Amino acid sequence: MELRVTNTPILQWSGDGLAIGLFEDAVELTGDLAALDEKLFGTLAELIAEAEFKGKEGNTASSRVGSGSPIRKIILVGLGKQESLKLDGIRRAAGALAKAAKKERCKTLGVSLPLWNGEPATTAQAIAEGIELALYQDNRFKSEPEDKGPQIEQVSLLGFGGQDAAIARARQVCSGVILARELVAAPANIVTPITLAETAETIAREFGLGLEVLEREDCEKLGMGAFLGVAQASDLPPKFIHLTYKPDGIPRRKLAIIGKGLTFDSGGLNIKGAGSGIEMMKTDMGGAGAALGAAKAIAQLKPDVEVHFITAATENMISGHAMHPGDILTASNGKTIEINNTDAEGRLTLADALVFAEKLGVDAIVDLATLTGACVIALGDDIAGLWSTDDAIANQLLQAAELAGEKLWRMPMEEKYFEGMKSLVADMKNTGPRSGGSITAALFLKQFVKETAWAHLDIAGPVWADKENGYNNAGATGYGVRTLVHWVLNS
Ligand code: BES
Ligand code: MN
Ligand code: ZN
Repeated sequence: MELRVTNTPILQWSGDGLAIGLFEDAVELTGDLAALDEKLFGTLAELIAEAEFKGKEGNTASSRVGSGSPIRKIILVGLGKQESLKLDGIRRAAGALAKAAKKERCKTLGVSLPLWNGEPATTAQAIAEGIELALYQDNRFKSEPEDKGPQIEQVSLLGFGGQDAAIARARQVCSGVILARELVAAPANIVTPITLAETAETIAREFGLGLEVLEREDCEKLGMGAFLGVAQASDLPPKFIHLTYKPDGIPRRKLAIIGKGLTFDSGGLNIKGAGSGIEMMKTDMGGAGAALGAAKAIAQLKPDVEVHFITAATENMISGHAMHPGDILTASNGKTIEINNTDAEGRLTLADALVFAEKLGVDAIVDLATLTGACVIALGDDIAGLWSTDDAIANQLLQAAELAGEKLWRMPMEEKYFEGMKSLVADMKNTGPRSGGSITAALFLKQFVKETAWAHLDIAGPVWADKENGYNNAGATGYGVRTLVHWVLNS
């Protein structure tokens, strides 16, 4: 699909479909729209009346225009109230109109959406992202593609002439989001620690990033007993993946992004039971997917920031080699951990990744992890939890997430709850009581960061969507990539 920008006025545009965004309580036709309605023999007014179109956010209405018209289909999309328009509202409207246009079998489409916050570049980028992400279809594992109908071939953003660079940025960001979606959606017999490392290698080769993959022996030498304890029951080799983006010239900042990379989480000997969602545990590398997706996007966007992308990739399996509940592991910072539950494995892999990242001497570390079911209980399926010891980073991430259209909510780092993690025999246990489970998980991670500004995102909820929503189709969302990109570029 070709995405282009043009200053062709809406009245002069011709093609298969024309999609127009309308605000709630402002659907009356004035100015250009009145002229357009006249030109289209009253189709606009008729459609608004017949569909009882009120401009509610996300609503669409479509109609055929009489023959002889320069436009075959007219599509209306609701934007909600003008005063509450957010950047992601534009992105979602673009996604909704793209899906409607596809259903209406438009091959060429003109899009007329309003400017957000007086920022043409930001707006054009969001529109392009919404369209591109909404039209993405994953047919990799179908013997025949599901969407056999005509595809949209060309989309023109009307009124955004000159914003070609914004479209290029949108495509780069989306390539990262789509990589994350594809990694998360692929099952554990396709995406393994080995293939994750291969994906990192492909990104490194294609975009000129540095890559270091530590094998089991390398991790042993570094004393990564926590990560290796999780990996020891798998028949697949663990891979500790470290991708580095370095800008030309002196970097403004050095950052590390860590993603939990459990390509499958069976729970280990504390095996996940029926009804635990074990069949969804291919998504337990959603943090790694976001990190690699962000790497792909950032490598193309080329900010003046050095970024390290790290994932300690493995499976959490059972076998005669499996760690026993009660085992004591020593992490690479020397701290000892009593494993009272082998299913709290993500934090063990992250512990060694955090120690590794801090040794790089970065200014800040962010980790993303499908870490706890407790976070899903607290915040539901759509919102990720944010924990941080550093208010500046926390606020940067909240702002980045807002622009990215990825819901994020700051949670408390309640130190007192760490008492629940006390062990009689080791420095700490790996799980505390059931209550506050996502908070104790964050407090556990904190033990492995000494002084670097750090934030933790628990993305167990939004990594996957059961239903389609705006530009997210049902399935893997690619959550985190856009937030990370905004964070790296703007803070
Ligand atoms: N990968 C899971 C967390 C998870 C649960 C992600 C549901 C997505 C959906 C994690 O490794 C896990 O098993 N966590 C346990 C921790 C518990 C043993 C303290 C959990 O949340 O039940
Ligand atoms: Mn687990
Ligand atoms: Zn897990």
